[in-house]
Amino acid sequence: METSSMAIVASQALDRVLVLEMVRVTEAAAIAASTLIGRGDEKAADAAAVEAMRAAFNNLDFDGTVVIGEGERDEAPMLYIGEKVGRGTGPKIDIALDPLEGTTITAKAGPNALAVLAIAEQGGLLNAPDVYMDKLAIGPGYEKGLVSLDRTPTENICALAKAKGVEPHEIIACVLDRPRHEKLIAELRQIGCGIMLIPDGDVAGAMSVTDPDTTIDIYLGSGGAPEGVLAAAALTCIGGQFQGRLLFRNEDERARAHKWGVTDLDKIYELQDLVKGDAIFAATGVTDGSLLKGVKRRTTGITTESVVMRASSGTVRWVRGEHRKDFAF
Ligand code: FBP
Repeated sequence: METSSMAIVASQALDRVLVLEMVRVTEAAAIAASTLIGRGDEKAADAAAVEAMRAAFNNLDFDGTVVIGEGERDEAPMLYIGEKVGRGTGPKIDIALDPLEGTTITAKAGPNALAVLAIAEQGGLLNAPDVYMDKLAIGPGYEKGLVSLDRTPTENICALAKAKGVEPHEIIACVLDRPRHEKLIAELRQIGCGIMLIPDGDVAGAMSVTDPDTTIDIYLGSGGAPEGVLAAAALTCIGGQFQGRLLFRNEDERARAHKWGVTDLDKIYELQDLVKGDAIFAATGVTDGSLLKGVKRRTTGITTESVVMRASSGTVRWVRGEHRKDFAF
C-alpha cells in the first residue's frame, strides 16, 4: 500500500492507546445523534452529537485543541475552532472533527451520516477555512500523479480507466448532487461514466474510493474544506490519492483564508499538505452507509460500527461495539 512507502514516522504524542479512545469518542457522538435520526431536526441532531463528543473528549488525558470544528467561537457554542478539549494533561494534539457529518441526512434518515474525527500532532492538520474545496480522490494502487485537479475530468477519467485496464465509460464516479456540479455531471455523462450522486456526506464519498465493494473509482467535485481535511486524514491512513483546492466565492471568503494563514489561494493541496506526519482517523456510522452500518437500537442494547486507522502503521480496524442501553462513555 502507498502509505508504507510514504514512511510516516510513528508519533510519540499519538500514543497507540489513543486509537481505541478515538473510537469511544465517535461512538458517543453517533449514539447521541442516532436518537434524532429521521426526526427532521438537523440542529438538534448536531447539538446532541457535539455535546456527546465534547464530553467524551474531556475524559481523556491529552491537551487537545480543535483546529477544525463546528465553526468559529462566536458562531459555535461548543467544539469551536480553538477550543481546548481533554483533561489538559499529556500530549498536545490537534483535532479535526465533525460530530455529525450529514446533519440533513440524519434528519431525513438517509444514508452515510457519520460521527468523524482526525487527530495529529500539534501543527499536523491544515487549518482549513470554512469555504468550499474542489476535491479529487482515487483509491490505492495507482501511480502517483495519475490524476490531478489541473486536468479536466475527461482527462482524469481516461487516465484512470487506462491504468485500471477498462474503458472510460466503465469508470464509476461519486459526486455530490448539487446544481453547481451540473457541468461536471454533463461532462461525465458525455463519457458515459456511471455517476453515484450522493445527497450529502462527502467524507464517506471520498473514502468510498478505497473500498472496491462500493464500486466507486473516483470522487470528484466540491464540498466543505473542513470535510476535505477529514477525508485526507482517512486516505493518508488507508492509502489512495487526494487533492484539494480551496474555492472562494467572494472577498469575505478570501479574507477568511488570509486569517487562517492561506497565502496561495490557488494552491493544490496534496495529502501531505493537508495532514502532516502521523495521524489517527476514526468514524462511527450514524445511519447505514457504504462503509459503516449505522447505530442500531435493539432490545438487548445498542450496536455501533466504527473504523479507526493510524497513518504510521497503516492499520485499519473495523470495530463493532455493543453497548448497554444505559451506556456511559
Ligand atoms: P453537514 O453535515 O455540515 O450538513 O455537511 C454535509 C455536507 O454534505 C458535507 O459532506 C459536504 O462537504 C458539504 O455538506 C457540502 O456543502 P453544501 O451542502 O453547501 O453543498
